[in-house]
Amino acid sequence: MRLEEHLVDCDEDLKELILRIGNVCKTIAKGFASRQDYSDTKNVYGEQQMALDKWADEVIIADLKASGIVKYLASEEQPEILEFDGQGTLGVTMDPLDGSSLIDVNLAVGTIIGIYRGSVLAPGKDMIAAMYVLYGPLTTLTYTVKKGVHDFVLNPQGEYVLQKEDIKIPQGKIFAPGAARRDFLPGHLKWIEELESRGYKIRFSGSFVADVHQIMHKGGVFTYPGFIGKEEGKLRLLFEANPMGFIVEQAGGATSHGTGNILAIQPEAVSQRIPIYIGGKMEINLIEKINLEG
Ligand code: F6P
Repeated sequence: MRLEEHLVDCDEDLKELILRIGNVCKTIAKGFASRQDYSDTKNVYGEQQMALDKWADEVIIADLKASGIVKYLASEEQPEILEFDGQGTLGVTMDPLDGSSLIDVNLAVGTIIGIYRGSVLAPGKDMIAAMYVLYGPLTTLTYTVKKGVHDFVLNPQGEYVLQKEDIKIPQGKIFAPGAARRDFLPGHLKWIEELESRGYKIRFSGSFVADVHQIMHKGGVFTYPGFIGKEEGKLRLLFEANPMGFIVEQAGGATSHGTGNILAIQPEAVSQRIPIYIGGKMEINLIEKINLEG
């Protein structure tokens, strides 16, 4: 089944948005060969941008601006929320290329999108849909409109076709732990040691979207915690934690900042960071129990 056929029960503008983003991502998937170098600019977080980061940001912004269905667009590569003229009512958050430090070593990276009806400075639980595109050996598109989580694969004819419907996170023993162990906070270290004692195996690629995609299919948990010197963590609430957390919850998993649900947080700033635990419910309950009980 093609993506277009799968989106039958959606509002028209939401369907158009998901299809549009899927189409722009086909263009991005073809851009890797010619844009391997670093640009001469840094993003709002002081990170050196890859040429592909900037280009992906520009092509998605141009497309969504022209669509007439989007009102607000917040991009990880932009300092402010963009507001478009017209009748559009949708709010979009995007990380145009997550994991872009891996572009020059040819590992999987992705595009992450959150979709709201209206303002994007809202708790993640207010999202109406979320999706990501993963550029790996295959290009895949995963979406939810709160009716299950579904994977599509880009076939050689350039069409997204259904790969797996209604994904549910299985039990699994993978953990993907970000940050350096010497900087772990006590509760986090206790949790990691508990997972290790239960036989969990590390798989951390440096691409959040790829690591979470793996966990959605094989079970386990991803974390980029708060740590000594950076208690707010590394990943961005609006662009990374919320959309991926929303998708994982729709797949029967959970997401937490260590003591509570990430999706309940009212964002205070576009650039806000958040410690993240995302994956199976059992692992998320365990970190919250350890942190809350001390
Ligand atoms: O936020 C960007 C990102 O590349 C994520 O995709 C990834 O999980 C994380 O940073 C990797 O960070 P580090 O390089 O510190 O391991």
